[in-house]
Amino acid sequence: AVTRLADYRAPDWLISQVALTVTINDGETEIAATLELAQNSADLQPLVLDGEGLETLSVAIDGVILDADAYVVTATTLTVLTPPAGHFTLQTRVRIKPESNTQLEGLYKSGDMYCTQCEAEGFRRITWFLDRPDVLAIWTVRIDAPASMPTLLSNGNRVGDRTTADGRRQVDWSDPHPKPAYLFALVAGDLVLRNDRFTTASGREVDLHVYTRQADADKVDFAIASIKQAMAWDERRFGREYDLDVFQVVAVGDFNMGAMENKGLNIFNTSCVLATPDVATDDAYERVEAIIGHEYFHNWSGNRVTCRDWFQLSLKEGFTVYRDAEFTADLRSRPVKRIQDVDFLRTHQFAEDAGPTSHPVRPAEYEEISNFYTVTIYEKGAEVVRMLETLIGRDQFRAGSDLYFERFDGQAVTCDDFVDCMQQASGRDLTQFRRWYSQNGTPHINVSVAADGDGSRITFRQQLRDGQAPFHMPMPCSLYAADGALLEQGLSWELDQVEQSFRVNQPSDDLLVSVNQGFAAPVRIHYALDASQRDVLARHDLDGFNRWDAGRQIVIEAWAAYVGNADAGLIDPIEHLFDAALAQFEQDPALTAEIIRLPDDSQILDELGADVDPVRVRQAGDAIRAELGRRMGELIQPILLALEPVKPYQPGGDQAAKRSLWCLLAQLLAHAADDSIADALTRRFVGADNLTDRMNCMTVAGVMARHNPSMFQSMLTIFHADWQHEPLLLDQWFQQQARFGDFDAISALLEHADFSLGNPNRARSVLGVFTRANPEAFHAPGGYELLAGCVASLDVSNPQIGARLVIPLTRYKNWSTSQRERAIHVLKGLDKVCQSADCREVIGKALK
Ligand code: ARG
Ligand code: ZN
Repeated sequence: AVTRLADYRAPDWLISQVALTVTINDGETEIAATLELAQNSADLQPLVLDGEGLETLSVAIDGVILDADAYVVTATTLTVLTPPAGHFTLQTRVRIKPESNTQLEGLYKSGDMYCTQCEAEGFRRITWFLDRPDVLAIWTVRIDAPASMPTLLSNGNRVGDRTTADGRRQVDWSDPHPKPAYLFALVAGDLVLRNDRFTTASGREVDLHVYTRQADADKVDFAIASIKQAMAWDERRFGREYDLDVFQVVAVGDFNMGAMENKGLNIFNTSCVLATPDVATDDAYERVEAIIGHEYFHNWSGNRVTCRDWFQLSLKEGFTVYRDAEFTADLRSRPVKRIQDVDFLRTHQFAEDAGPTSHPVRPAEYEEISNFYTVTIYEKGAEVVRMLETLIGRDQFRAGSDLYFERFDGQAVTCDDFVDCMQQASGRDLTQFRRWYSQNGTPHINVSVAADGDGSRITFRQQLRDGQAPFHMPMPCSLYAADGALLEQGLSWELDQVEQSFRVNQPSDDLLVSVNQGFAAPVRIHYALDASQRDVLARHDLDGFNRWDAGRQIVIEAWAAYVGNADAGLIDPIEHLFDAALAQFEQDPALTAEIIRLPDDSQILDELGADVDPVRVRQAGDAIRAELGRRMGELIQPILLALEPVKPYQPGGDQAAKRSLWCLLAQLLAHAADDSIADALTRRFVGADNLTDRMNCMTVAGVMARHNPSMFQSMLTIFHADWQHEPLLLDQWFQQQARFGDFDAISALLEHADFSLGNPNRARSVLGVFTRANPEAFHAPGGYELLAGCVASLDVSNPQIGARLVIPLTRYKNWSTSQRERAIHVLKGLDKVCQSADCREVIGKALK
């Protein structure tokens, strides 16, 4: 069934107060709910509550148990046919079985711990409710559990805590802030608490409580430090303070997504919160900090002000990703963060927007909302917010944000409400800008330069999809001469027409335009320059992002050309670029690493368009790396020596930059089958005091495994022996094999005793990596079928994960004919067996 934005109607009933009693016993949990209902429609309407998989025990109105003919229960609804007009109290009792909840939505078990995930529509799997984000209530919760579960958590502040006569534990929670059901959370178990404190700007003392299973209690110091950073930053940068006496975080090993911003009780995938040098790489540390920030920032952008309906999801997600990106940029390196975010957007979001599940930042319809937690809603949504900031300026953006939080506190609102605030604060007409919310696809912009008298005319042409109107976007530019001399800086142009041009006084001969500086607009620019012109910008552009991007375009164009014609001369401009970058690696190793990191294959596929075998793209990339390794070996060797590990390990900073640079350079030599690094590699692996170096060594050995598999194999053996007791490290161990193994090796991983489709992290470690990062295995005979078998099984056990993992197979549009035919055949087979709305929506769109 399709749900449409155009069909939105305010709810017929509202809920002002909720009182839940959750009684947990092994094998069954009972939920008693008392809801204060208020009529919200002019004419009295039946009350239709949402529910799923509930065993209904009783229904009462104002204390009187209803006869069975006073209400109707279906698989997904409970309808009270003639409710009292005005106000009344509804009491229900239901029974659920969290122990057999494999979907990980609603109340489920992860190991010995009970926990919840309610966004978007999981609360209906706990009790009958108006499970929609525009129904906001004040909640109290009592958790009643056996003594074996001393840790009983929910939202808000703890207001009661007792052990009953029969030895059971009872804890009461009260949340003073109105919230929709998707922000409800509950955790029950025997957990270890690590605590700390934060004092807010206005003097509120906040307890910081981080809960883990026993074995992980020593891995939360970094998360706690990050919470404090996030709290202080949101006060400084957005004037937002925390608003409860306690801020709680719980780490959960079985979790569909990264983390969840439940009011006062954030629940995290262990992979996004635990960090020590032995279990987290440098990138993982940065991710923990960013996701802690992200969930914390939701306390305002999401919780205090929430979404009216799920079409508005990007209202909270786009804004919050923008906020967490700014947090990271302020704490770490702003240029590096921008480069990494744009690279991620181009790799993942551009591909999504060009594929069968393309949708606007504010979708107009969906079958299953879980399928819309996408890079478009999150990352493109954040780019749209960033464009607003660029267009109106940082101060007016802050004023618009203040206005938004003040005007809509405690309400459920829309993307338009957000833009209205930016419009009012800046006085700028943002009517046309709103097309970014309703029109999908990556805009392509053609840029051309022509002589105009003694000056030049720079013309921008928006290539639009059928039926689309031009976007309004910032297009900041600067002008350079052919030798790289700056001619004109800070041209803050904006585009709002299909075609428009700007006259400049510089003659067009050899004029170089630095276009879309800082990647201000999330578009694809087509501006025909040759490699030597790009090289001038890669050396001289004063905009750090565009300096990097000029190099990026050199690599993409050379690689794309090489796929069609393996001419070693095509590699010269890349070598030239890398030479220049490495000459300066000591000044800024992080930026050097970004320059010599080759783009993901998907960016080359995007550049090439139709009818390309992804395996050939990969092989061309490997051939380029090998050739660079051969040509640059003598330059690289001494740099590797200069990048010897520094002890003790510190995450981030100069150390992290040097580790990643080491890994990239060592891989070039490994591609070139240069065995001279073997000894140093073994030493680095054995002597490592941190996971980053261990994984980097395994990556280099994985590349070398092509001609010499023994080192990779022995590293895997040692790593497994040392770390098999750590689930997150077993994930890493599976990932490395999924990345470098052939089809048979990957089939074997699925049979491994430690593999489990039931744990999302483990399933992703093999299937997500094999399908996205190992084209040779994925496109090998049987590769698509291997994935399809797992998807068919997940369709039953955990459809949300099934629908995500199948996506790589749906991106077949530009593959070679035989690959396309095979993919369609396998997808048709899946379409016959899949039953879940999640999988059916994704597969159905792919076959349309
Ligand atoms: N709101 C969460 C976040 O972005 C993600 C929740 C996703 N849940 C889901 N069922 N898809 O932090
Ligand atoms: Zn979020």
